[in-house]
Amino acid sequence: MERRQFLGLFGVGALASSLPVVLAACYPKQSTAPTSEASPGADGFLEVGTVAELDQEGSILNKEFELIVVRNPEDNSLVALNPECPHQGCTVNWDKSTQNLVCPCHGSKFAADGGVVKEPATKPLANYVVKEENGSIFVKVA
Ligand code: FES
Repeated sequence: MERRQFLGLFGVGALASSLPVVLAACYPKQSTAPTSEASPGADGFLEVGTVAELDQEGSILNKEFELIVVRNPEDNSLVALNPECPHQGCTVNWDKSTQNLVCPCHGSKFAADGGVVKEPATKPLANYVVKEENGSIFVKVA
């Protein structure tokens, strides 16, 4: 085989072997993100977890529906809030030791009912309606 023939065959082979990659890049990507099976019921309430999980973990964060459930230490009631900090939109975390929601970005703190404890945030976290039935926690999201 002459050099010219070899290079010609190699070039065609390389093109043929890269064709599937090129074609795959042209098609829209399929989402590989895990999808949630959870969806709100006809009454708009979404089951987000159990009271046992909440009491063990201290909070239940649902990123898909942007909500966090905690217990209000004042009266032990369930509270569901939007965890998006009203300052600049970071996600707040529940601090078990202080019983506050703390923003990791600029240090705002919120009480379990969503009220501002420490600025720079000046507005409270938004509340959702929450209820408990048979040990499960439901939040009205729709
Ligand atoms: S985004 Fe939360 S304090 Fe700034």
